[in-house]
Amino acid sequence: MPLETRPIENSFARELLGLRLWEPLDDVTADQLRELWAHHPVLVVRRQALSERELADFSAVFGPLERVVRTEWASAVVPEVGLISNLKDGQAKPIGGLGDGELQWHSDQSHMTNPATGAALYAVELPPEGGTTSWVDLSAAYTGLPDRLKRLVEGKHAVFSYVKRLAGYQGVDRVISAEAQRKTPPVLHPLVHAHPVTGRKALYLDSTTTVGIEGMDAASGSALLDEIYSFATRSEFVYRHDWQVGDVVMWDNGSTMHRREPFDPTARRLMKRTTIFLSRERHIVPDGCLATEQAMA
Ligand code: SIN
Repeated sequence: MPLETRPIENSFARELLGLRLWEPLDDVTADQLRELWAHHPVLVVRRQALSERELADFSAVFGPLERVVRTEWASAVVPEVGLISNLKDGQAKPIGGLGDGELQWHSDQSHMTNPATGAALYAVELPPEGGTTSWVDLSAAYTGLPDRLKRLVEGKHAVFSYVKRLAGYQGVDRVISAEAQRKTPPVLHPLVHAHPVTGRKALYLDSTTTVGIEGMDAASGSALLDEIYSFATRSEFVYRHDWQVGDVVMWDNGSTMHRREPFDPTARRLMKRTTIFLSRERHIVPDGCLATEQAMA
């Protein structure tokens, strides 16, 4: 039976209906889902009730799961599941990462040479207001770019640095282990990719990690990035998700960015996230390399 889906609010996001993600998927449904995700970078499934194991098993249908460098955010039960939360344990130690602050437009894992571009975020506990997450469609943004900007970004590589991302975090999230530092040197990724299935071109961006453009001086690189970010994040390219407990949102970081609005620090928010190595046959997966001193200049 074909999967039942519907567009959400005329946005680029699609809702999947009738799925029970806590049960193993049959092969036909799994194939249909892989195909669907290749065409629709943001998929929403509502009214789910998942254990961490079930969330991880469902996510693994799309590719191997990554254990991200922020090991302190990992669930103690299923380490492939990360806890995104402002909650603290009995010793006042955060149980996960990313607290309650605003998260600017970003693409998870852009600081890695071979980023795991898939993500699934499951809402367990939500604040009464705030904490809304939005996604921007970077294929539509590329299509809409004025020709002048298309020419300027074509063939260019940006430098993506986790040090910049850390500076935007709050409190203990700013501090990483020596091992995590070793694993996150600045990297280069092309700013434009073609999707392997649809052939559509998309921008690859992350305003929280890009520090410059290879081959451009700092001022010109930063001015071009500012112009691109201001165009690419226009409201017409954005889907804003009003979370309900039990929602699972899956997104492809190869052709989207997302941002989160802040929320009341005294309210509770608990989300569980997986990070998935999506296949290059079905998704844009940037093929990065380490940034040289020259690229950083
Ligand atoms: C994230 O950026 O992965 C987390 C988004 C959120 O907390 O809504």
